Amino acid sequence: MADNTLQSSKKNLVADWDRLAKVFIRPEDDASRATLIKYMERILFGLHDFLKTHVGITEAKSLGELSKNYMRTDINEDPEKKLADVIACLIREIAPHAVNVASPYFVGHMTSAIPFFMVHLKTIVAALNQNPVKLETSKVVSIIEKQVIAKIHRIVYDFGEEFYLAHVQNTETTLGVFTEGGTTANLTALWVARNARLFPKNGFTGIEREGIPAAYRAHGIDRCVILASRLVHYSLRKAAGILGIGNDNVIPIDIDSACRMDMEAFENTIEKIKSESPETCILAAVGIAGATETGTVDPLDQMADICRRHKIHFHVDAAWGGPTLLSKKYKHLLAGIEKSDSVTIDGHKQFYMPMSCGMVYFRDPHILNVIAYYANYVNRRGSVDLGIKALSGSREANSLILDCALKIMGSHGYALLIDHGIETAAGFAEEIRRRPDFEIITDPVLNILTYRYCPKKTRDALARAGKEKKCRISRQLNRANRDLQRLQREAGYSFVSRTTLQNSPGCEEDTVVLRAVIMNPMTDMKVLREILDEQENIAKQVWTSVEE
Ligand SMILES: Cc1ncc(COP(=O)(O)O)c(C=O)c1O
Repeated sequence: MADNTLQSSKKNLVADWDRLAKVFIRPEDDASRATLIKYMERILFGLHDFLKTHVGITEAKSLGELSKNYMRTDINEDPEKKLADVIACLIREIAPHAVNVASPYFVGHMTSAIPFFMVHLKTIVAALNQNPVKLETSKVVSIIEKQVIAKIHRIVYDFGEEFYLAHVQNTETTLGVFTEGGTTANLTALWVARNARLFPKNGFTGIEREGIPAAYRAHGIDRCVILASRLVHYSLRKAAGILGIGNDNVIPIDIDSACRMDMEAFENTIEKIKSESPETCILAAVGIAGATETGTVDPLDQMADICRRHKIHFHVDAAWGGPTLLSKKYKHLLAGIEKSDSVTIDGHKQFYMPMSCGMVYFRDPHILNVIAYYANYVNRRGSVDLGIKALSGSREANSLILDCALKIMGSHGYALLIDHGIETAAGFAEEIRRRPDFEIITDPVLNILTYRYCPKKTRDALARAGKEKKCRISRQLNRANRDLQRLQREAGYSFVSRTTLQNSPGCEEDTVVLRAVIMNPMTDMKVLREILDEQENIAKQVWTSVEE
């Protein structure tokens, strides 16, 4: 909270053992219990009431102005505020300047409203404070985590009852891992793929122990690469950097006109590497199920077949699109995901969990042995210590939240959310098409679409223009769309994000686009029309003179 408020409310507070004991011991009398319940009420209802009446996205105060209030870097020796004051301040002073991601008018990112019960579940998880890294600090929670992992594994791979009975509580095998988010889930998948591919042989004890130069020598290679569409999330490049593969070695494969990885380009790249660089090892190929920028889905089925033929680890980044598998109506959009070797799914995206929760699943229940780490004080062999085959050490028991959410919602409840997002995005695309001032750039496959402000007259001019003029107009359009998005964000009533899509090779100007992510069940066509109306009004200010 702002430094000046801290100063003004500071009154005779001291840190001593009496007070500390009160913080740690459960309230023993009715009065203190009532006080704590009152605080919880303020968080649950005070914050939500506030956000409900405060319909916008955020207060129109600039970050520069805000940061002036947060310059103090010393920590007070004595306490500065009581819990009640801290909560009041968070609700009244911080929340208005944070981002109301729960607003139906916030359709710009993969962060949105969460069901109300998630706040209760998060509170229980904090109150229990279990640490699934080891059985000794989680007990039944570790077992529940294995069960939830098996449930999600089943919606991806559907291996049948016998398989899941054999593995759900098996301490020797692992079907998946909880991670902090999609980034660490992708990193885990590539870590496993790397270690599995550069396996121990002829006295070489494995890449995890001996490192990259020894692994490359033992396997007679001089380079590893990962193949992914150029729309792949940057976390895959990050993972390649961390794993010593080098992010230049994430080879971008061209996409087709529907933003899906081009299968001919994919196979040609594999063939070329194999014939021209026999010392290059293709460590993995990544298919996207819900690209971050466009929401598009790669041809997973074909990719899987190609990968099998060439013995390449096939990872699917379904951080966004994974829960689509719960929708009977739309799960076909991810057909082929069941042939993958590993799959990333985020809990804090379309499972509507609070920040943050990632997961990664593996076809082979034994493959995670290649990243196993043991420690005598924790993570013992043959135990349910979930830290053995995981990137994280200590972490919160997110699996409890997902387990409860699945029970509260049922797969059908989640399917309703997924269906709403996909169908509303399709309706939004129709509305954009109806308006002469806008142009769809990428149609929605799931619930993400991109479009731009581009008046009909300008579109016609672009179609007629030669190369140079086309570039000039495109630059003007890019500037206008950038300004339009910024002005709408700054006004604080609604939020649509912006990205730049790379044009196909040979075309010089990349395209600045507006990006809408429709995941909030309260976002309906009325809201979306208002957002477009606002954009049309803003555009009148930013679109002054363009040659047409
Ligand atoms: C497709 C995809 N993969 C991975 C990630 C990274 O996930 P996280 O932000 O949870 O680390 C994202 C995030 O937007 C994503 O869209």
